[in-house]
Amino acid sequence: TSPVLHLSVIGTGYLGATHAVCMAELGFEVIGVDIDATRTQRLAAGEVPFFEPGLEGLLRKNLEAGRLTFSSSLAEAVDRAEVHFICVGTPQRPDSGATDLRHVEAATNGLIAAGLRPGTLVVGKSTVPTGTAARLAGRLAAGAPGAELAWNPEFLREGSAVDDTLRPDRLVFGVVPGGTAEARLRTVYARTIKEGTPVIVTDFVTAEIVKVAANAFLATKISFINAMAEICDMTGGDVTELAAALAHDPRIGPRFLQAGIGFGGGCLPKDIRAFQARADELGVGSALAFLTEVDAVNTRARTRTVALATKALGGSPTGRMVAVLGAAFKPNSDDIRDSPALDVATALHRAGGHVSVYDPAAIPNARIHYPYLHYTDSVIRAVAGAEIVLVLTEWSEFREIDPAALRPHVSRPIVIDGRHVLDPAVWRDAGWIYHALGRPLA
Ligand code: UDX
Repeated sequence: TSPVLHLSVIGTGYLGATHAVCMAELGFEVIGVDIDATRTQRLAAGEVPFFEPGLEGLLRKNLEAGRLTFSSSLAEAVDRAEVHFICVGTPQRPDSGATDLRHVEAATNGLIAAGLRPGTLVVGKSTVPTGTAARLAGRLAAGAPGAELAWNPEFLREGSAVDDTLRPDRLVFGVVPGGTAEARLRTVYARTIKEGTPVIVTDFVTAEIVKVAANAFLATKISFINAMAEICDMTGGDVTELAAALAHDPRIGPRFLQAGIGFGGGCLPKDIRAFQARADELGVGSALAFLTEVDAVNTRARTRTVALATKALGGSPTGRMVAVLGAAFKPNSDDIRDSPALDVATALHRAGGHVSVYDPAAIPNARIHYPYLHYTDSVIRAVAGAEIVLVLTEWSEFREIDPAALRPHVSRPIVIDGRHVLDPAVWRDAGWIYHALGRPLA
């Protein structure tokens, strides 16, 4: 048998923690590094600091097997590993929408300063603007001769991160021709490649663009169907039936064609803005001008939901009891970054509504950033006395609500289905007035 590869994963946020655990699960010796020592201590104690189904079990299993350790020292990573994955965050700069590369730069400089050895491979996984990899490669060439760089974007989705990492749709390797990076990445990902995962080997820039292009496409698809919902609202059409009909064209397909309150989270909104900002810098801003409209349609889905609720309440939320089911930006996640649900809840609160929020996982995070909302620990408590109920995140717990059983708890049976996940016929039969964007009232 070949010797076990030693890997380091720098940055143990959402992407890094998942990557470190999954690489250990594949049998490699992995060290996860983060400047936040509290974070690495929690991980070393077997605790995942965010909600991700299946991840904690695998973390504990691999800690026990001794394949996975955590540290806050890059020197330790440089000492022990021959492949280093950079998985640090690339947030949006509040001023320009451009990407803040501070953490990527710090990780690269830190590896060099710690004495990165010749023959080691540095693999960037963070989402970065075009040109970043080439610049970092230049820095490695100067500061750590003989170390190589590759760009290997990550496409994992929150809520299915483990599966997406162990069984990705495709692997993209941005490499410099003639180097050893491709062969080494093929070794790292041998298992999934053997199972049939396609590999696209390309240059740095293409690898960088694949990630933001994929997210721009997905965002566009969602905004497309939300734009159709606006058309349906003006014409009396039904956007869910429209989407079902479109989806049968295999060139379109059913996924990411779910109309509703739109996309949120830590990637899609940030990535489309960063992509535009980078295109502007490069002088090709007009090529991505449509993403401004994609963003605008997405924001309108939120304001239109607020307007729908306001209208259903007879003109004003002031002093009215409002129940919001859902706070996370999507189900199976406790992530509230740019959450459409909390945006809508906030708008109704600002308009004077008494807003009660329930979410199966995201309330601790929501409390920190939206302290002015009222939180409850169950659907029943959230809807007690409500004059309107809004379902804004499609948790299965909400899909499975029995509208007849819920009816006696509210003071007025009005529901807004912000994600098109409830069956209008069933809710109407149980005595509810059902509203959703892009669908006729009855
Ligand atoms: C996304 C990409 O899918 C992933 O490949 C990338 O690596 C990171 O960004 P994620 O942010 O975890 O992943 O969530 P995703 O499942 O893509 O959903 C994004 C948002 O779009 C959510 O708010 C979701 O509710 C919304 N959405 C999705 C819709 O409104 N309609 C849809 O049809 C699909």
